[in-house]
Amino acid sequence: MRTQVGIVGAGPAGLLLSHLLHLQGVESVVLEARSRDYVEQRVRAGVLEQNTVDLLRQAGVGDRMDREGLVHHGIELRFGGRGHRIAMTELTGGRSITVYGQQEVVKDLIRARLDVGGQLEFEAGAVSLHGLDGDTPTIRYRHGAEDGELVCDVVAGCDGFHGVARGAVPDGVLTVYERQYPFAWLGILAEVAPSTEELIYCSHDRGFALHSMRSPKLTRLYLQVAPDEAIDGWPDERIWAELRTRFATDDGFTLADGPVVDKGITPMRSFVVEPMRHGRLFLAGDAAHIVPPTGAKGMNLAVNDVRVLAEALAAWYRSGSTELLDGYSATCLRRVWRSQHFSWWMTSMLHRFPDDDGFQRRLQLSQLAYTTTSEAAARSLAENYVGLAQV
Ligand code: APR
Ligand code: PHB
Repeated sequence: MRTQVGIVGAGPAGLLLSHLLHLQGVESVVLEARSRDYVEQRVRAGVLEQNTVDLLRQAGVGDRMDREGLVHHGIELRFGGRGHRIAMTELTGGRSITVYGQQEVVKDLIRARLDVGGQLEFEAGAVSLHGLDGDTPTIRYRHGAEDGELVCDVVAGCDGFHGVARGAVPDGVLTVYERQYPFAWLGILAEVAPSTEELIYCSHDRGFALHSMRSPKLTRLYLQVAPDEAIDGWPDERIWAELRTRFATDDGFTLADGPVVDKGITPMRSFVVEPMRHGRLFLAGDAAHIVPPTGAKGMNLAVNDVRVLAEALAAWYRSGSTELLDGYSATCLRRVWRSQHFSWWMTSMLHRFPDDDGFQRRLQLSQLAYTTTSEAAARSLAENYVGLAQV
């Protein structure tokens, strides 16, 4: 097979890149290791920042998001048994976030590609990349029992943190920046109406908890747990009891429970490789960087990377100029590092660290009190949370 841009991975990064390239008249093939059903059902993040919403709309894939997504104008920070609202929209000159599951974005993008005959190969896992230093890089992949080869002008590594693309870069080229956190998130999806209209980020002496949602009938909840925690140790009743304890308020907040339809534990890390390019290979999304989910930035960063990459590739095909492609990594990394800092800051302020003593806890509570009472501090949180227009 031959194409212009060979894309490894059909997550939000790979699918949106393929769609944006199509809008610019550039051809691509997407290779995805998993089945269509798997990628459409996988429960992941759910917060779209304003930039992401605007881009999906402009690209013509925002209709269902506009119908079914929940537009939020604030979030709550809960600590010391009380809630404190951050009025995001008021503080940011009218910007907001939209709660819409990542797998819904993925479904919309798959539909949009297939509607115009886009080439998406499911159950086609890339095995190795070759010729990244030359003009015709190739992707070797395995589709069912058959081996295939995709010859391209450029390869986009959109295959997530555990993919093959990053590993295809020769040793010594990439610098890795990394932070591991001494905790994980246990997440559940429950068939019950959310107990709150806006997301609640809760800092409790027993650890962090987050109340999110997917629809008026589906609630998404997270608990900070130990990093090596086994899901078997958390029967549903234990999860609900812990959630009730952490979310409790002095004025009697009640958390409604319901059947748990999805349950999993996610490790937390911060990770960046620089540069996000080697020769004709461009890394995008989780393949190049991971943020802890506290800032809700993962999918939004993936979307920004491919926005920059699609524009740069389109300019190159149109004019032969490599200027935008040469700036790809540095342009993306500016936003990546802003989001890294924000996600690390939110994580540090809201979680219990095993080594923390009373001094550290009081610093956290003071920072939370300041963030929720100073307009300047609240605005800083809000503008990062809804996504800075320019970085
Ligand atoms: N060949 C083909 N596909 C692969 C391979 C491979 N060797 N390895 C991994 N993949 C696929 C995965 O199955 C997955 O569908 O690449 C896709 C990567 O998608 P994501 O992990 O969703 O990554 P990305 O598109 O960068 O989106 C980032 O995902 O983890 C969340 O919080 C993160 O919201 C952020 C988003
Ligand atoms: C989610 O709804 O899955 C979600 C929301 C906010 C976060 C992380 C995850 O910060």
